[in-house]
Amino acid sequence: MLSETKSYGLLIDGQEIFTDDLLPVKDKYTGDTVALISQARQEDVEAAVASAKRALNKPLSPYSRAQILMKASTIIKSRREELASLIAKEAGKPLKDALVEVSRAMETFRLSAEEATRITGEMVPVEAYPGSENRLAFTIRVPRGLICAITPFNFPLNLLCHKVAPALAAGNAVIAKPASVTPLSALMVGKILEEAGLPAGWYSLIVGPGSTVGEWLLDDPAINYYTFTGSYEIGKRIQERAGLRKTTLELGSNSATIIHKDADLEKAAPLCARMAFANAGQVCISVQRLLVHRDVYQAFASALVKHTKALVVGNPKDPATDVGPMISTKEADRVMAWIKEAVEGGAQLLHGGTREANLIEPTILADVNSEMKVWCQEIFGPVVTVVPYDHIEEAIEKTNDSEYGLQAGIFTSSIDIALTCAKRLHVGGVIINDTSAHRTDSMPYGGVKNSGTGREGPKYAVQEMTESKVILFNHQVL
Ligand code: SIN
Repeated sequence: MLSETKSYGLLIDGQEIFTDDLLPVKDKYTGDTVALISQARQEDVEAAVASAKRALNKPLSPYSRAQILMKASTIIKSRREELASLIAKEAGKPLKDALVEVSRAMETFRLSAEEATRITGEMVPVEAYPGSENRLAFTIRVPRGLICAITPFNFPLNLLCHKVAPALAAGNAVIAKPASVTPLSALMVGKILEEAGLPAGWYSLIVGPGSTVGEWLLDDPAINYYTFTGSYEIGKRIQERAGLRKTTLELGSNSATIIHKDADLEKAAPLCARMAFANAGQVCISVQRLLVHRDVYQAFASALVKHTKALVVGNPKDPATDVGPMISTKEADRVMAWIKEAVEGGAQLLHGGTREANLIEPTILADVNSEMKVWCQEIFGPVVTVVPYDHIEEAIEKTNDSEYGLQAGIFTSSIDIALTCAKRLHVGGVIINDTSAHRTDSMPYGGVKNSGTGREGPKYAVQEMTESKVILFNHQVL
């Protein structure tokens, strides 16, 4: 596996390719260089595309795809601690969350392996159409071809697996371009896939900035499909450049969770504290806007502060740590500026608001208004806002009053309130009696509005990464 401060290459055509342009990968807590990784030249992107095309000319059977993916899942399981420690370093994610991420990645591969054996079309009753009595038709699902997976830093392993494993399950070849700050997990996935028996060309790793490498990938007409997790701005650019090519875009959100007056506060408050600050809030569905019924507002806010104070902030490699550093100083500066703007505009700090290097104390803000960035934009940092409401209608309106719509949570003991919210909240997923930040890897995951388009989750991603082809027989009726 990876040894520290070693140089690593790109993965192209079953080879590790080294270039002169080495990028240091930093430990996000200590700032130390963990490893150096080669950045791609345009010729490397071209070589990866050519290798994928050769691979696609010799398709792998669904059975062998399933076998390879299942083996990769087993290898991930056997290297859980090692992979978690790598994530803790390159992403600054607390070890306990990194361990969960590795277990999730293992499941993402397992679920994808199962999906590889379940790709089906349907019978089309064309014979019921007048004049088509002697015809018979059915559909099959065929791979889209070459898929480019552009992945973020916040779940450097599992969000990559959510793109790569279903793509391979569906019979596609993949070129992965991970975030430049966290390329090592994606490198490990390549090595694990090779060990699991994936032949050359099916998975390539390309590293480098979006402004060059990203543009070369978008320029290449041989790439049939882009699957991306990241910001709205970059997602929009990918969509514009992709033209008629298919995309899945999993973008940001300022997710809301509603705490109704009949909620179980003992369950809701610790979950909200945990999920507002997990991974330092750098999660697309992080709990950012808490809408709390006025009858329970004081009790909930006090419990939220109490549970937030109990969170351990510090070194991600310490198994006790709950909240680690932000990914970069630039991001920590931005989050602190947004907190300052809110406080200067009249928001009240119920907790936090301070910083030590890139560690931001979990921050709870009350008395915010809908113009403040901490409310109306995606903060992607350890900050949560708490706002009271009087009627559920108001909570639904405020949740929907957002340019985003990824997931929302609702805590209530009323089935009617729960189902009303489920129907009326304009988001990709409504989580009842848990927070917006809950995700089970098998479920469909994706957003509406500026939160993106398409759905992940192996079953749904396989559907998106294949297309329907109709086969029609014109036969003689004897
Ligand atoms: C994300 O940040 O979109 C991923 C959240 C998750 O997989 O838990």
